[in-house]
Amino acid sequence: MNTNDKQTAGVPAARGQTLEFHASAIAGTERVLCEELRELGLPSVRFNQGGIPFRGTWREGWRACLESRIAQRIHVLLARFPAASPEALYTGAQAIDWSPYLTPRQTFSVNAICRGSVIQHENFAALKVKDAIVDQLRHRFASRPDVADDPDVRVFVYVANDKAALYLDMSGEPLHRRGYRRDVGDAPLRETLAAAILRLSGWDRKTRLIDPMCGSGTIAIEAAMWAAKVAPGLSRERFGFERWANFGADEAQAMRALRGELRAARAGDVPRVVAGDVDPAVLDKARSNARAAGVRLAFREQSLFDLQHDGAQALIVTNPPYGVRLGTDPDFVRKVAATFCRLHGWQVAMLAGLPAYALSMSPRPRVRMPLVNGDLECEFLLYDIP
Ligand SMILES: C[S@@+](CC[C@H](N)C(=O)[O-])C[C@H]1O[C@@H](n2cnc3c(N)ncnc32)[C@H](O)[C@@H]1O
Repeated sequence: MNTNDKQTAGVPAARGQTLEFHASAIAGTERVLCEELRELGLPSVRFNQGGIPFRGTWREGWRACLESRIAQRIHVLLARFPAASPEALYTGAQAIDWSPYLTPRQTFSVNAICRGSVIQHENFAALKVKDAIVDQLRHRFASRPDVADDPDVRVFVYVANDKAALYLDMSGEPLHRRGYRRDVGDAPLRETLAAAILRLSGWDRKTRLIDPMCGSGTIAIEAAMWAAKVAPGLSRERFGFERWANFGADEAQAMRALRGELRAARAGDVPRVVAGDVDPAVLDKARSNARAAGVRLAFREQSLFDLQHDGAQALIVTNPPYGVRLGTDPDFVRKVAATFCRLHGWQVAMLAGLPAYALSMSPRPRVRMPLVNGDLECEFLLYDIP
């Protein structure tokens, strides 16, 4: 936030002011997140390895929460100030007017990250900011808001090189929790990571797309939603900012109107998206998740090894089994690779365990990049099958 502005952001009169936002992403997906935010028409989007900053009004912050498929969280900047000591951090946090977001009726939490600064201890930094907030509100209202695990207001403090930046988390629950995934199989992908690998695959949203090992259907559902221009946040009940003190009847009305506009933007003409799995129980879960997401997929109960080239063009985007939980045997990986190598002229994108899958494929990948899936290191591979 421009710290010269009176800090009444979010109330109707202040809706037009320019704010600074920060979109965070799973490590390695920042480039595609930056591309996506630019495509959404958000202003002043800049590439930055640790997350993507952009500027805009509150409405643009709301739009990022509703429309970004790849962002994990959207933060709005409240203030930046020097913080070479705990006292400076306390004073800087006290200078912010917290009452537009937080009153004694709301609950809150503070999390901190410290890098290369005199203040090294993150819990201590969070505690200083919490004390500043509580002292300010107690002074003003004669009572204080409580700290909670599922808070109304999430404050995030970033202290780097003795400078602090204080943010509010607009998302609340991380944005991969879209709300449509009721039931999952083994090792489900985060929806945001599925959306990122779809973009990394270079899919044109016209070519037929197949996930032959779809599990709970995340990749196929995200693909169908992307192609149909279904905003991923539409299935979310609410976002963090909808629980702030300044989110009143006017804001709720504006948010309903924005949701309505996004619903109306749905595209009717979508390419065929096929979701297959060898396991019928897991395929049932994918079916019910797709229904909850409001998208149509073609389901195939089939082993990948029976997948045949049918003459038409297709892009495979998949997440084959790998890693500790799914313990992959080398014969299985070789058979998967041999199946893919038979699909002449198709493209194959996968989020796979390293290095087994890359070593078993005979063509060289056109794209190969490291990614993390939860706590598992893996890699994204993209092949043009000759
Ligand atoms: C890592 S999981 C996929 C998770 C999925 N991306 C999700 O978000 O839920 C791998 C899936 O491959 C399926 N699978 C294993 N062997 C298969 C085969 N031969 N043919 C098709 N699917 C197979 C498993 O049933 C499992 O659902």
